Amino acid sequence: MYRGWICGPLGAVIAHQCPKIHVVVADLNESRIQAWENGTPSFYEPGLNEVLSIVRRRPAPERNLEFVTDVEAAIQQADLIFLCVDTPTKSFGAGQGCAADLSNIQRVARTIAQVSRGEKIIVEKSTIPCGTADMLQDLLSTCGSPDAQFEILSNPEFLAEGTAMENLMLPSRVLIGSAQTERGRRAADELASLYETWVPRDAILRMDTWSSELAKIAANAMLAQRISSINSLSAICEATGASANVDSVSAACGRDPRIGPAMLQGGIGWGGGCFQKDILDLVYIARSLHLDDVAAYWESVVTMNEAQQTRFLQRILACMYGSVTGRPIAVLGFAFKENTSDTKNSPAIAVVRGLLEEGAKVSVYDPKVPSNEIELALGAVDLTHLQICRSPYEACCLADAVVLATGWSQFRTPSIDSAQLDDGILTPPLEMSNFLDWSRILNTMQRPKYVFDGRNLLDGAFLTRLGCRYVRVGSASAWDAGRRRSVGL
Ligand code: UGA
Repeated sequence: MYRGWICGPLGAVIAHQCPKIHVVVADLNESRIQAWENGTPSFYEPGLNEVLSIVRRRPAPERNLEFVTDVEAAIQQADLIFLCVDTPTKSFGAGQGCAADLSNIQRVARTIAQVSRGEKIIVEKSTIPCGTADMLQDLLSTCGSPDAQFEILSNPEFLAEGTAMENLMLPSRVLIGSAQTERGRRAADELASLYETWVPRDAILRMDTWSSELAKIAANAMLAQRISSINSLSAICEATGASANVDSVSAACGRDPRIGPAMLQGGIGWGGGCFQKDILDLVYIARSLHLDDVAAYWESVVTMNEAQQTRFLQRILACMYGSVTGRPIAVLGFAFKENTSDTKNSPAIAVVRGLLEEGAKVSVYDPKVPSNEIELALGAVDLTHLQICRSPYEACCLADAVVLATGWSQFRTPSIDSAQLDDGILTPPLEMSNFLDWSRILNTMQRPKYVFDGRNLLDGAFLTRLGCRYVRVGSASAWDAGRRRSVGL
């Protein structure tokens, strides 16, 4: 999965909302295009298949969505070209580990320059460093045919995985950055008229390309910063060993309308393909402009996220008497968040790797991530003691500890009020089938039974009454604090 995956959902939504516009999704990768053409994209995104099947059911003359590998022909026929290519963090050369790798975007720009004639509007959808629109304008006008004219627009995407279709259909805002010239504004008008088919006019914001490019990176950096901030406070709550609780702190801060409640859920840290990449890009821009204090400020958001994952792992070790060597541990969830099959920078990777390196026997279950992707994501670590399971019950059977790494709603506990508990015997509420049967899970575990909730999703009182030691991010439990003191961790 890579950022280029925006291309398919975006194409499907434009085709769905604008029946008169012919949308062509072009990619050199044949198997990927074939999967889209068959209506079976290789990743899970709620609502995507439904939209695709509506568009695909349209009779041939009205069917306005095509998936092709002939990229050059697609460019030649198009008036408006969305660039959705991947721009990963550079793993080599200048800016390694920080700057965005623009080789794919340059390659596609050169192809556009070679094959285009007439007027084309090029729209940056990929997240790219500030100034890329200027670079593209220069590259295309220098390398393009004299018969071709290009206008570059920045139109960053703000959808989140798992809610992509909702975000595309009802965007909080649409940014259109253009050159501040008559031609630039005309091109922006054309793109705006496409969105106005389904987006209210006042949600469409226009600006210059630099501001639009920076706004995209800044929005992700600020979202990640909120999560890192609440996670830094979770560390304080844990360290007090008292009754401080990060969920209460988060609820109290979130009630301030100037702060708001979103992205304040404490946990094992943020993942995904976007936050880290975009913050590192921002750090690189700041450094290039000799703004070292600005670079250090944003870099600390990433450092805090890494520290959160390390701290969570250390807490598991501390609670389990300082060693997990040879101990069976189940990890529930592997995707970087719920409702997606994407594992990019998932905090679960650090947890599973860390446990394997400590010699634990780890069984993993995720409802949507295929086994081969779990193994691929774990990279160069000895996988001899890794087992990938087909159900949460299989993963947890005979485990010493269960670690909740992704907040899939199917892992939830019923609230203590909705289930009747008598001496550890559970009378399920009517809607019990919506929840994981935690009493079945705990019955098959070895004592002492631990549940480490990395997403603060579970009802601790409920699990404690079922007989487990429950550990949540951002609050200390009495025995946990005592244990830490006694083993000197
Ligand atoms: C993010 C942004 O939210 C989108 O606006 C943006 O368009 C997208 O990146 C992108 O640039 O492509 P995404 O990475 O899909 O979207 O997912 P988020 O919902 O933002 O979650 C990111 C991570 O933060 C996940 O690991 C999630 O579990 C974690 N998170 C989220 C928390 O730990 N706490 C929270 O309160 C919220």
